[in-house]
Amino acid sequence: ESSEQKQLIDLNEQAVKLYHHILMNTKIGQPALDYLHKRGMTDETIVTYQLGYAPSQRLVKPFFDQRQVDYQLLRKSGLFSEGQDGSLRDRFVDRVMYPIRNANGQTVGFSGRLLSTDSDMPKYLNSPETELFNKRKILFNLDFARPNIRSKQPALLFEGFMDVITAFQAGIKSGIASMGTSLTEQQIYDIQRITREVIVCYDGDAPGQKAIKRAIDAFKETNHQLDLKVVSIPDGMDPDEFIRNRGGDKFQALLKNAQSPIDFELNFLKKQSNLQSEDGQAAYIAAALKLVATVSSGISRDLYLNRLAEEFSIDKEVLKQQLAPMIRRTA
Ligand code: UTP
Ligand code: MN
Ligand code: MN
Ligand code: MN
Ligand code: MN
Repeated sequence: ESSEQKQLIDLNEQAVKLYHHILMNTKIGQPALDYLHKRGMTDETIVTYQLGYAPSQRLVKPFFDQRQVDYQLLRKSGLFSEGQDGSLRDRFVDRVMYPIRNANGQTVGFSGRLLSTDSDMPKYLNSPETELFNKRKILFNLDFARPNIRSKQPALLFEGFMDVITAFQAGIKSGIASMGTSLTEQQIYDIQRITREVIVCYDGDAPGQKAIKRAIDAFKETNHQLDLKVVSIPDGMDPDEFIRNRGGDKFQALLKNAQSPIDFELNFLKKQSNLQSEDGQAAYIAAALKLVATVSSGISRDLYLNRLAEEFSIDKEVLKQQLAPMIRRTA
């Protein structure tokens, strides 16, 4: 890492301290602190994750000016937006600040959340892509989770970093999240370097279910050696809401009952099919067989065929005949 990168990390870490101080110790931070408390976040968690608040007063620029930090460095820090005349203004205004650390625990950027979502601004605003901050490479919380994953807990892949933090507070400390982008090859590779076991715990709402499907596809596109499982959170909740409403133990129970990707995909497929019509049934069965063909165990394939045959009252031998050439092609 270059000395410029070190300086940029240092700037980000100074900003962490400033935002955190404003949140914890000042009157202008009080509404943000109340917001976090209302979300069930303890002060211990707020300190552990060094959460902060960027007030509307734009205090970061004067803070660094006082310390005579170099203009070019400030430009590259991601903490400011740049006017046409090159002037810099605080990028994050009136947002709860979540520091984003890289795998080495260095702060490389931020995500800032609005206190209330009834404005037309994006709910979360991230640092721009910089020399330091590449969303597609970051796995949020990897530095905290890694020792726990290595000591034999499955990696829990969440959709949002709030889910990661709430799980952590509930003692479930092997959670990681991508930064609102689909899972990248690099991220899958990084997970694979530390574990074989991954449970996808995305949101229970419709976008979350679609994101699970995309994640499964992303895993398939890599040559992964992972034991992948999927959790479906009930009632459209996300893991953060589920843990706050039902508790960490109930969430652990969901993890214990995690499905295989095939079961998830069959379910997902079924929900999108029109099983009232014969054409819809035929299309579902054809797509289901395609999925079953990818199962490597012959016994498992047979069990899926039993299920399909029973579900649609079809002769299992017919299904078997259809499946046979597909297996040879995918083997
Ligand atoms: P969600 O909308 O599920 O957010 O987006 P959340 O984690 O439940 O947040 P809360 O509970 O409303 O505070 C999941 C992830 O998508 C990215 C963020 O990384 C977020 O954690 N995202 C979402 C953005 O980058 N920008 C947005 O405006 C919204
Ligand atoms: Mn409070
Ligand atoms: Mn979501
Ligand atoms: Mn969510
Ligand atoms: Mn949420």
